[in-house]
Amino acid sequence: MSFQLFSRFPRFFHFFACLLIAIPIFSYVSAVPAPADGVRNPNNKLKITPSFTSESNGDVSGIQSGSPDLSGPPRTGKIKYHGGFVNTGTIDIYYIYYGSWSSADRSTLDFLMNNIGSTGYTKILASYNDGNNKSLSGNVRLAGTFLDNYSVGKSITDNTMVNVVSNAIKKAQWPADPGAVYFILGSSDVNHTSGFCSDFCGFHTFDTIHGADIKYAFVGDPTKCLDGCAPLYANSISPNNNPGIDGMASIIMHEMVESITDGDYDAWFDDFDYEMADKCVWNFGGSTFIKPARNGALYNLDVGQNQYLVQLLWHRTKQCRLTA
Ligand SMILES: *[C@@H]1O[C@H](CO)[C@@H](O)[C@H](O)[C@H]1NC(C)=O
Ligand SMILES: *[C@@H]1O[C@H](CO)[C@@H](O)[C@H](O)[C@H]1NC(C)=O
Ligand SMILES: *[C@@H]1O[C@H](CO)[C@@H](O)[C@H](O)[C@H]1NC(C)=O
Repeated sequence: MSFQLFSRFPRFFHFFACLLIAIPIFSYVSAVPAPADGVRNPNNKLKITPSFTSESNGDVSGIQSGSPDLSGPPRTGKIKYHGGFVNTGTIDIYYIYYGSWSSADRSTLDFLMNNIGSTGYTKILASYNDGNNKSLSGNVRLAGTFLDNYSVGKSITDNTMVNVVSNAIKKAQWPADPGAVYFILGSSDVNHTSGFCSDFCGFHTFDTIHGADIKYAFVGDPTKCLDGCAPLYANSISPNNNPGIDGMASIIMHEMVESITDGDYDAWFDDFDYEMADKCVWNFGGSTFIKPARNGALYNLDVGQNQYLVQLLWHRTKQCRLTA
């Protein structure tokens, strides 16, 4: 299918549905619209609506999003396997902290990845299988972290991303593992020139790096575009006291599960190219799951002693779920 022609274009975590029309290649990526209004002009919050209503199971006052733009084909169709590679073992996740990172923010994201495997959240992955009908394990682990002090500057491009990943694998002496997922996590002063904060919150892609087919993703700290890439939290408080980092937590989960189930863009997606997290994007579970956090914010998932607000994921047969 024509999809193949564009297989190397990243699958974006989108939020301007209009770009789907304006830039045809985007119709092949897993469009993930986010709250759009106010992103290009952060002061324009007029169109923000106070709930996720139709896409989540109810409204919880306090969590607001700028009208998630979920226009386009329905996200509820059957997700299908297209024959491509999926890793059924424990998935090694590597974090490249790019730019300036505080140890507190790193520990929020390290802790999430170190402990998410025990929550039942990643067990949703076990509803998917490989070409031999073997189920995915649903296990992930943080296999390494690396600090990159702006090696390609404050603006990352599609091309320089490859260098960032390649350099980290070399310097940190990580394996070049086709079954792993490598994340570039940009600090709040780091841009991605393909449209971070204006067209997407994050995306995953793949390339041959050190001779292996490496799955990797970019997720930036959306402090400059919270109303586009993070839920607007009650009183601006987020569960781990940094709305940008808490916003990243959910986007990292999104790109992680999609890299695992569709890392080469030829495995699990539906008839409209929605991958498993696209199908539940900006759905935090409404009043069924959202509850008050210790610090007065709202959250939906206990991960060890920490609390996070993460989007639901599409279970192959049970639809959007917080845990398997
Ligand atoms: C996988 O399982 C499905 C349903 O149980 C079956 O229809 C299909 O033939 C199986 N495929 C393989 C490769 O075993
Ligand atoms: C990062 O690079 C800047 C400028 O090159 C330098 O001033 C700073 O000390 C570096 N930071 C670390 C942690 O290496
Ligand atoms: C990010 O890069 C894009 C493309 O070069 C640019 O249009 C945009 O203004 C940049 N954003 C920031 C916050 O620098």
